[in-house]
Order: sequence, then structure tokens, then C-alpha cells
Amino acid sequence: MAEFKEISPDAPLAAKVMNWVDNRFPATQLYKEHMSEYYAPKNFNFWYIFGSLAMLVLVIQIVTGIFLTMHYKPDAALAFGSVEYIMRDVPWGWLIRYMHSTGASAFFVVVYLHMFRGLIYGSYRKPRELVWIFGCAIFLCLMAEAFMGYLLPWGQMSYWGAQVIVNLFAAIPFIGPDLALLIRGDYVVGDATLNRFFAFHVIAVPLVLLGLVVAHIIALHEVGSNNPDGVEIKGPNAPKDAQGHPLDGIPFHPYYTVHDIFGVSVFLMVFTAIIFFAPEFGGYFLEYNNFIPADPLKTPAHIAPVWYFTPYYSMLRAITSEMMYALIACVLGGAVLGVVKAKIANLFKALIVAAAVVVVAAMLLTDAKFWGVLVMGGAVIILFFLPWLDKSEVKSIRYRPSWNKFLYFIFVINFLVLGYLGVQPPSPIGERVSQVGTLFYFGFFLLMPWWSRLGTFKPVPDRVNFAAH
Ligand code: HEM
Repeated sequence: MAEFKEISPDAPLAAKVMNWVDNRFPATQLYKEHMSEYYAPKNFNFWYIFGSLAMLVLVIQIVTGIFLTMHYKPDAALAFGSVEYIMRDVPWGWLIRYMHSTGASAFFVVVYLHMFRGLIYGSYRKPRELVWIFGCAIFLCLMAEAFMGYLLPWGQMSYWGAQVIVNLFAAIPFIGPDLALLIRGDYVVGDATLNRFFAFHVIAVPLVLLGLVVAHIIALHEVGSNNPDGVEIKGPNAPKDAQGHPLDGIPFHPYYTVHDIFGVSVFLMVFTAIIFFAPEFGGYFLEYNNFIPADPLKTPAHIAPVWYFTPYYSMLRAITSEMMYALIACVLGGAVLGVVKAKIANLFKALIVAAAVVVVAAMLLTDAKFWGVLVMGGAVIILFFLPWLDKSEVKSIRYRPSWNKFLYFIFVINFLVLGYLGVQPPSPIGERVSQVGTLFYFGFFLLMPWWSRLGTFKPVPDRVNFAAH
């Protein structure tokens, strides 16, 4: 046990209370470590606001979710009506519900921008691999949370969207049908499904999400934040003052608390404008079909997930039996490249050939739908490996070869196009474009060990670039 710190009997009451607490719980120490003496690089730009905004949206979702749960009924016969009751009869219920539904989309906007920042500044690179991995796990949880939450209003889109996605699991060889049954708790999406999704949505996934966010921040504060220059401000060679504080760092509080309050104010203006003036956001945040109660006997003409899932949904739809030949060509091409180029023992080369033969045989023998599911899941899973795929000499895009900017730009456009196509009904041209887009998405990541080394890198400065404003 640490020794009790004594305080003068003449000290102010607040100081005495704080001393009493600190002798039992490291409140002041935590505040110093994570706020007033947490040194963050002084050159953060607006991209660094989205982490705090993600925390804000998380709190908004939890608080509004608690109030929604007070009036919502997780019962297939009552769910739709209870949401209408919240919207029409519960005092301020409409506001709470719109905050929650708009919050879901805002969460993805903020998190996508937050991830993109990590991508362009190489924030996933050593020593921040775990910060990134916790982030990817958060992203997976967020997707599960949004998917299960969407079933709860029990509208047509809730019902048929869940039907389509749960049925995808049935495409997995051997265990698929039983797995789909386990998820649904019934042979069709029904009351049992609604109950278990409710349990996962309101408690199980949020608990995991909160734990992961804490781990994300602890890991970040252990290694320190990256910055737009990708220069380490706390490394052994980084310049420090007499107290050992980095010369390129400033205390998080008050400097970045003020910075974040400004970001929060701008965000809240946009967020409230959407809630009050366009809560459905043209059918993108709340789909029109979801204002019709779920009807297991009437399939909507066009089923599309909410916008934040559509890039992945497009990749799923891109995997047709025709596209399987393109994928087989990619597997064979990868294997040939591995055998010819990689400097590895012959035994490993033989293993590559054997693995390629097994994968191609499996591709020829199983349904394209299963590979579509694999591609869709793989599109998220591949993000976990980013720290080891990027072999660039430098972290930040600022010091990479100029054409890298163009490549990242195409990556973003491609992701947006895939997202757009996922909202649209299937069409032959859309299918072809999404196939090219899917190949580009995976090519970007899988070929990164090659292209990230190419070109002329710019010299990285010793100190961060900073101009006082
Ligand atoms: C609920 C969701 C999330 C919350 C609340 C959250 C919170 C934060 C906060 C507060 C920071 C420090 C401030 C900042 O750099 O913006 C941060 C940094 C970071 N986050 Fe997240 N995050 C979330 C999701 C993610 C996801 C999905 C990823 C990536 C897949 C990610 C990757 C990172 C990285 C790499 C950093 C360090 C950035 C740097 O130092 O340059 N985060 N996060």
C-alpha cells in the first residue's frame, strides 16, 4: 500500500477532499497522465478532431439508447407500434429517436474520416499497431451494433435486410445452415431473432465497444499520438526541454480540449441541423420502406442496406460466377509471383503452390455466393493487417512520392462509387463497375508491400512543421 500523503489542516476544503480521494484512488495522477501532462504534437490539424467526435457520438448513442429502451418493446407484435408511440406520444420521444438514428450515420461518417486520417498519416505504423488493431475491432463491433439495431424498429427494411444478411451465413460450407439457424433462433427471422438482437444491441456489443475504446485510448497514450508529419516527438532522439517534455508537444489540456470544443461545436451545428430539418436525409439515414411494418409475406422490390454498409454490399454483389474466374486468375497470379519473386526456401514455395491448388479447387467447387461473403468480410479483415502491408520508408503522405496522393484519391473515389452502387438496384453496368472496384480495393491493400516502396521519398524533417496561428 502506498503511503498516505498528509495535507496541511489549513488547506482549502477542496484540496483536502482531493487529497482524501488521491490517497485511495489515483484521480489526480490519471488526470495528469491523460490530460494536463499528456503531451500531444503541436501540429495537429482538423483531421485530429474525429477521435473526440467519435467519443461524443458514442456517448450520444448510449444516452439516447437508454431513453429509447424505456419505451421500446422488443416483441415482433409490438416493436413497430412502440417506435411509432415514441415518435408521436412520448414527450420529446421524436427528438431522442432522431438523435439516435442520425447518431448512427454520424458515427460512421466520423469513424470513416478518423480511419482515413490514420491511413494518410501512417498512424497504424510502428509503434501504433495495437492502437490501429483496437480501432479495427471497434469498427467491426460498430458494424454489428448498427446491423442489429436496424432490426429493432421491425419495419420492412429491418426485416428483409436482416433476412438477406443472416441468409449469407448459410452460404458457408458445412456449418452455414446451422449457423444461420443459431443467429436467427428460428427458421425465419422472427420474434426470437428480435429478442436476441435486442439483447446484443443494448448490452453485449456496447459493453465490448466501451472496453475496446478504453483499450484504444490506453494504447494510444502509451505510445503517444502520431501527427500530420509522421515525426515522433517522444522518441529517444526527439528534442526535449529541461523537464523532459517534448519541444514539439503541448499539454492536451488546455490546448486540445479547446481545439476539440471548437470541433464539437461545428459538429453539433451540422448534427442538429440534420435532426431538425432532414432526419431521414433523403432516405439515406432512415429508409422510406422502414416506415412500413415488417411483412414476412411481402418482399420489397429492392432491398439495400443503410449507406454505411453499401461499399461492402457492392463487393458482395460483385462476386458472380463469372467474377470467380477473375478471382482464380488473381490467386494463380499471386502464387506464380510468390514462387518466382519471394526469397524463401523451396519448401515454402511448394506450400504456396499446394495452397493455390487447394484454393482454386475450392473456388471451382463451391457457390460464388460463399466467396462473395468471404470477400465482403475480407474487405474489413484486411484492415487489421495494414501495419504489416505498408513498407513505405516514411509514415505520412506528406513525404511519400507525389503520385501516392493520386492513388489515395482514387481509393476514396472507388470506395464512394462502390457505396453508391450498393444503394442502387442491380444492373449489368453497375455489376461490372463494382467488380473492377472490388479488384481495385483489394489490389490497393494486397499490392501495398510492393507499391509502397516505389518512387522518390521526400526528406522527413527532424521537427514537426508548425506555424503559430
Ligand atoms: C468508437 C470509435 C472510436 C473512438 C471513440 C476513437 C477514439 C480515438 C481518440 C480519442 C483518438 C485520439 C485523438 C485522435 O487522434 O483523433 C484516437 C486515435 C486513433 N484512432 Fe481511434 N477511435 C475510434 C475508432 C477507430 C477506428 C475504427 C480506427 C481504425 C481502424 C481508429 C484508429 C485510430 C488511430 C490509428 C489513432 C492514432 C492516430 C494518430 O495518433 O495519428 N480509431 N481514436
